Amino acid sequence: MENKNLPAIEINNLSFSFQDQLVLDNINLTIRNKEFIGIIGPNGGGKTTLLKILLGLLKPNKGEVKIFGKSPAKNLKYLGYVPQYSNFDKSYPISVHDVVLMGMLGRTGFGTPLKKENPKVAEVLEKVELTPIINKQIGELSGGQLQRVLIARALISNPNILLLDEPTASIDSKSGKSFYDLLQSLNDDMTIVLVSHDIGAISRFVKKIACLNKTLIYHDSKEISVEMIEATYHCPVDLIAHGVPHRVLDESEHSH
Ligand SMILES: Nc1ncnc2c1ncn2[C@@H]1O[C@H](COP(=O)(O)OP(=O)(O)O)[C@@H](O)[C@H]1O
Ligand SMILES: [Mg+2]
Repeated sequence: MENKNLPAIEINNLSFSFQDQLVLDNINLTIRNKEFIGIIGPNGGGKTTLLKILLGLLKPNKGEVKIFGKSPAKNLKYLGYVPQYSNFDKSYPISVHDVVLMGMLGRTGFGTPLKKENPKVAEVLEKVELTPIINKQIGELSGGQLQRVLIARALISNPNILLLDEPTASIDSKSGKSFYDLLQSLNDDMTIVLVSHDIGAISRFVKKIACLNKTLIYHDSKEISVEMIEATYHCPVDLIAHGVPHRVLDESEHSH
């Protein structure tokens, strides 16, 4: 990366509407390099829309986003995207190897054919501890394995920023690194932005939390107040925070 002192992501006065529905209202957020931030908010709160704007797939009506100082289109190469795995069509007949290789599409220059047997596939599958299943069909995988495959697909282009949409912690790895440990070790090398409606799941992972429901509330820390949650979810806090409002959310409070 040219300038290591640049913030990884800057969101300035960002507003976005689908037709006449205002979905994101004047969002401001700066995410520094190597941060690990969680963005929580209810379903329909605009989380996926925000990620799509960061990826340049949707254009803001107002304001701007910058990825290492430039537009998403100019700096797409720095971004890795892990879509919600439950939306992924598992019936499609394709191997783990080929799904991961697809992460190179659009990154190697237009029309560049993908090399079969790309050594990077093996490398990223080792990172997510899926080497033994490289030749399996994706229809044979568990949800947790598919999630790791999608992470490997995002990693193959060497991103500096990893965006994860609604990953779940329901990971079945009985041996090897937990999903938590995997994200922590990836965070040594890259910025991580994880969005979820599930405050309990997310607060175990992240170092900082923002709340998003059309507007975004962020205090540059992991502390999250009753006011922040209520303003975001519009419902009583102990339903969401598992009866531990007004406290810093940490692993011990949410490992049930
Ligand atoms: N393609 C679309 N066309 C019109 N409205 C959309 C579209 N995608 C999402 N929306 C609406 O935008 C709002 C935010 O959606 P989304 O970003 O998916 O929220 P979240 O990911 O937080 O659940 C919702 O009200 C949703 O119905
Ligand atoms: Mg979503």
